[in-house]
Amino acid sequence: MEPRRPGWPAVLGPLVVPAGVVLLRPVRLRDAQHWSRIRLRDREYLERWEPTQAGDWAERNAAWAWLSQWSTLRRLAKHGQCLPFAITVDGGFAGQLTIGNIVRAALRSAWIGYWVSSTLAGGGVATAAVALATDHAFGQAGLHRLEATVRPENTASLRVLDKVGYRKEGLFLRYLDVQGAWRDHLCYAITAEEVGDGLVTRLVDSGRATLPEQR
Ligand SMILES: CC(C)(COP(=O)(O)OP(=O)(O)OC[C@H]1O[C@@H](n2cnc3c(N)ncnc32)[C@H](O)[C@@H]1OP(=O)(O)O)[C@@H](O)C(=O)NCCC(=O)NCCS
Repeated sequence: MEPRRPGWPAVLGPLVVPAGVVLLRPVRLRDAQHWSRIRLRDREYLERWEPTQAGDWAERNAAWAWLSQWSTLRRLAKHGQCLPFAITVDGGFAGQLTIGNIVRAALRSAWIGYWVSSTLAGGGVATAAVALATDHAFGQAGLHRLEATVRPENTASLRVLDKVGYRKEGLFLRYLDVQGAWRDHLCYAITAEEVGDGLVTRLVDSGRATLPEQR
């Protein structure tokens, strides 16, 4: 019989990029302080790309607010609907990567979303994280398609998807409520047939990342 939550829990990596050693592991309750500190500081950096939610930023991103976020993610992961990773760099909490809305049967599809601390911007962390997670999604987790939706203005995120090998599929008009208005989003996607020997291998071969033993 197929496991109820294939590919979960899992630790992915490590992979070395200019910012440091990137590892993905399940989110933990004790990430609260680190999560909150980064998100309160990085409000401007994050808020213009994230879905509109009730309550103000300070409240939603206070350390105590992590408990409900973490327990929701944990419940969804337990039911095989989500793979909620913390991204760590050199062992410290640095952001999140989530594979969500996992649908199985004949679709075997999900979305991928991510954010990384502004202090590490441009250091290759998100690129490494997306490559690691995509390989895992098409390997252990048994998925066939991943989709990322990005505002056309989000140059950094578009660049990440481009570097890793996601394909632009089209523009979703008025797709998501972000900062109080319906925003267009570009849809990027990748299917299992497109990854060849894996996106991590491709990243390493292109010189954008190294495996720890190559250092
Ligand atoms: C998008 C995000 C995750 C990228 O994280 P990161 O770790 O900095 O990403 P990487 O370093 O792997 O790659 C970023 C690439 O974008 C480029 N970039 C960054 N800002 C840019 C900008 N304003 N204009 C053009 N390119 C930009 C970087 O130079 C880098 O490309 P390069 O390797 O060719 O130089 C991060 O900026 C973030 O968390 N943003 C806020 C939340 C968000 O947008 N999440 C995604 C929603 S779809």
